Amino acid sequence: MLRVASEVVASVPRKYNVTRILRYLVTMKNPDDTFKHVHWIYGDSGYGKQFAPFGAFDSGKCTATNCMDKYEEYGYAVGCQAVETEEYNYKRQAPATNCVPDDSPECVSGTWYSLPGACPHKTLYHKTDECEEQYPSAKCDQPDGSLTCTYNVRYAGQVELDELEGIPDYEKWWVDEDGPTGNIEYEKITDDGNGTAWWNERRNEERCNSRMAQVIALFGKRYPDLPDNLSNLATYFARPTKTTYRSSAAWALRQMDDRFSILRPDTVVLDLGCFPGGWSEVAVERAQASCSSSRVIGVDSTYMDPLEYHTFIQGDVAKQAKRP
Ligand SMILES: C[S@@+](CC[C@H](N)C(=O)[O-])C[C@H]1O[C@@H](n2cnc3c(N)ncnc32)[C@H](O)[C@@H]1O
Repeated sequence: MLRVASEVVASVPRKYNVTRILRYLVTMKNPDDTFKHVHWIYGDSGYGKQFAPFGAFDSGKCTATNCMDKYEEYGYAVGCQAVETEEYNYKRQAPATNCVPDDSPECVSGTWYSLPGACPHKTLYHKTDECEEQYPSAKCDQPDGSLTCTYNVRYAGQVELDELEGIPDYEKWWVDEDGPTGNIEYEKITDDGNGTAWWNERRNEERCNSRMAQVIALFGKRYPDLPDNLSNLATYFARPTKTTYRSSAAWALRQMDDRFSILRPDTVVLDLGCFPGGWSEVAVERAQASCSSSRVIGVDSTYMDPLEYHTFIQGDVAKQAKRP
C-alpha cells in the first residue's frame, strides 16, 4: 500500500501504468550460511535473523552494495526491512513473531521484502538467456535452504485500483480531448487527491486501516472461494501439491514451466490432444484455475475422465466443426 500510495498514484498517468494490486503467498527458507552471517551482523538482538538485509532492486537489478558477492557467498537469500510508519501509516495484518518489544515500530510496521530473481545483477532489459541460465532465480517449488532455492511464490489474486477507488475509467478520468483534466489520485504535498479522496491523509492510522480493509474486502468479493486472511490463505495453499499425474509427460511440462513461467494465473490454456490429461493437470495447478480467472480447456478425440476446474471437449482438432 505504501508503494502504491507513494509512487504509483502520486503521478498522472500512474507510474509504469500500474493498474492492479497483486497478492502473492510467499514461502521461504534462507540458507544456513545466510543465517550465520546475518546473526553475526545483528548479534542476539532478535531482529532480522531469519532474513538477509534488504536488497533494493531497481528494474529487476539488485542495487545494494556488493549485492552479487553476498548472494554468491551466502546464498540467494530473501531479505527484509521494516517500513517507516511515520510517513505512511500502514501496519502489519498479523503481529510479527519473535519480535521484541512487540509494540516497537519494527514489529508492527509493514515490511519490504527482496526476492532474488534470475540474473539479479542486470536490469530487466539486459537479462540474457545465458545470464539467466548462469544465475537462475532462487524461486523454486520447495524452498529447502540450499544456496539457490530459497523461496516459492504463489499467485493469490488481484484487484483493480479503479474498482477500489470507484474510478469508472482511469484513462478518461485523468485526461480528455483538451488534455489533463487536473484529476490526480494523490499529491504528497497537499496530502490529498483531486477528483477522489481515497488516498487522503497518508499518516492517519484509521484511514490507512480502512484502506487496507477495503482492499481485503475487494479480494474477498473477487475470490469468494479463497480465505481473505493471510494465515488462512497460507493453510489453504499448504495443501500438498500433486506427486502423481495421469501421464509422465506432466513432469516435462512442469520443468518447462519452472524455466519459462508459461502457465500463468488469469489466462486461458488450450491443451490440444490432452488425453489422458497429465498436461491438463499441470495447467490447472500452475495457472491456478481453482482460484484465478484462468480456464483450462482440453480437446482430444479420445474420451478423458473429468478433471476439476477443467473443461473437456471430445473431438478432432483437425476437423472444422459444423455450424448448427
Ligand atoms: C501423447 S498424447 C498427449 C498426452 C498429454 N499431453 C498428457 O500429458 O497426458 C497425444 C493425444 O493427442 C490426441 N490427438 C492426436 N491427434 C488428434 C486430433 N486430430 N484431434 C484430437 N486429438 C488428437 C490423441 O488422441 C492422444 O490422446
